[in-house]
This record gives sequence, structure tokens and C-alpha cells, in this order.
Amino acid sequence: MKHFLLITLLIAIKSLAFANTNNLIADTPAHGSVLLDTDGQPINAHGPGVMYHQGVYYLFGEIKNGKTWLVPGQNWEDYRVPAGGISCYSSTDLKHWKYRGIALKPVVNDPGNDLDTGRVIERPKVIYNEHTKKFVMWMHIDKNDYNYSRGGVAISDSPAGPYQYLGSIKPNDQMLRDMTLYKDDDGKAYLIYSSEDNNTMHVCLLNDDYLKPTTTYVRIFENQRRESPAVFKNKGKYYLITSGCSGWSPNAASYAVADNIMGPWIEQGNPCKGPYAEMTFFSQGAFVLPVISKPGKFIFMGDVWNKTDLEKSAYLWLPLSISNGEIEIKER
Ligand code: GAL
Repeated sequence: MKHFLLITLLIAIKSLAFANTNNLIADTPAHGSVLLDTDGQPINAHGPGVMYHQGVYYLFGEIKNGKTWLVPGQNWEDYRVPAGGISCYSSTDLKHWKYRGIALKPVVNDPGNDLDTGRVIERPKVIYNEHTKKFVMWMHIDKNDYNYSRGGVAISDSPAGPYQYLGSIKPNDQMLRDMTLYKDDDGKAYLIYSSEDNNTMHVCLLNDDYLKPTTTYVRIFENQRRESPAVFKNKGKYYLITSGCSGWSPNAASYAVADNIMGPWIEQGNPCKGPYAEMTFFSQGAFVLPVISKPGKFIFMGDVWNKTDLEKSAYLWLPLSISNGEIEIKER
């Protein structure tokens, strides 16, 4: 009980510090922290993506709930936790995040269903389609052995959901694992994902309603084994940050720059600087969030995975600066 009171007190102090910060980003102590929503509850939104719509930021992420277990018979550390669906939080100042509920519900006891809690539902990203007036969510759908490797798609009439699941696909019959989604200024949207057994990444143009991949795609970072893509644009140039491929364990990030999202992408090296830069400060990137009120300002959103207790995974959100076309991410 004493412990419980102490933890509650610490959370309360942390939440006050969070509320009072003048920064746009939470006061993240070294190497990640739990972030609290406006009810004081830990934010459960891993592998996140953020959509800005009509003055509001909507944060979507994986709900990780329950006991972590190790999938037997794999030659890698295949730690899993029940897939709890996709959560949504909203904020107007990037400091206070209000819980908006489960945007995409999982299903239980239906192993054949993509959204069964026994599946992998990861890295959700949402964009808005101006023509269909639908919010479109893409995510990585898999089975525990990661051989299903598909992109799942869901739609909603309102940003926070609920989203209706439409099904999953292998774009151009290619594997899709870690992924992100990018909507460009001209309204075209792209899926960017680890493919070919994580060896090579693909950038694939979506069709006009954003619900299907087109046959237009390119292969990038051939045989480089990159994952966790996070893409953004600044002053007409595209930037793509990726991690290496070491499961839940941290590794060095790398970024590439391009004049055209379909490439060529020119590798620039590690955007992280300072102590533990080669471990991305013990995180793995998931998204780069443009701060709408401050053009040229971005937030690098990383996950600090706790692989043996995945629901305890934390977050590391850091300012990302660009100077002379070069990215710099430092842990404060
Ligand atoms: C990572 C990936 C995570 C998760 C994990 C499973 O490489 O980035 O999203 O899929 O593997 O081990």
C-alpha cells in the first residue's frame, strides 16, 4: 500500500511538471518515460502516428495490454503481448493529451481474424482524404511468426473513430511489415514499409481514395535491412529516418534525404548526436511530427521498448532540428 501511495504521488508530481512545462514536448527524463493523459492515466499508444486536422493533433498508437510472452521456435526474440487494437488521444498544444477511446477495436477468440488479440497490429498511421471525406488508417497486420506481413486498412467519418476495418493486403504481392504513411502537399499519399523479409524498403503510391496500393512503387535501401520508417518534408526536401533491424532492442538510426519521395534517397547517417546516439537513446523511431504553429520545428517520437514486459514500454519524444539540410536529434 505504501508503495502504491508513493507511486501515485510520483505520478501526480510528474503530471504537474508535465502540465507546467513551457516546452511543446513532455519533460522526458533520460531514456524515455511514461506519458500521462489529461486523466492522469499512462498513455497507451505505442508505435505511434499523429494526424493534424482542423487545429487538433490526433495521436494513434498500439494498445499493449497484458502479459508478455515469447513465441516458441523462433530464431529471434519474438516477444509478444496481446494486440489491444488502436488507441486515440487528442491535443491542441502537444502537452495535454485527452484520451478519445479505442479507435480500432480488436476482436477476441477469432484467430482467423486480422484484428484478433493473438495477432500483430502495429504502427498505425492516419491521414484524411479530402475527396472521400474519410479518415484512412493503415497499419502493419501480422501473425506471431511475422510471415503474414500485410497492410491493414480502416476508415472512419470522424478523426478519433471508431474505424471500420476493411481488410489487409500485400501491396503488389510484396511483404509489408514496419510501415508509415505520408500524405504529400499535392494530396497524393504513399505507404513506406519494410519489405522482402525486412531486407529492402518500398515506397508505394496509394490510389486516389487511399484505400489501395497502386502498382507504382520503388525499392529503396536495397539489402540494408532498415525498419521503423518515419518520413517528413522540410523546405521541399523529403527526410526518411529508419532504424536498423534488431527486434525490440535499440540500434542506430539513420536518415536519408530526397527531392522526390520515390527517390533517389541519399543516405546521410545517424541523425542522433551525443551520448547513446548509437542506440537512438535506447529508443526506436516511430514518427516525426511537424509542429504546425512553428514551421521547421519537428518532434521525433520514439518508443522505448521493454521487451520482456511490453505494456511497460515508454516513450522518448525529442526536438528534431534541421540546419543546412542536416538533421540533429539530441537527448536533453
Ligand atoms: C521491431 C519492429 C516493432 C516490432 C518488433 C517485434 O523490429 O520495429 O514494431 O514489430 O520488431 O519484434
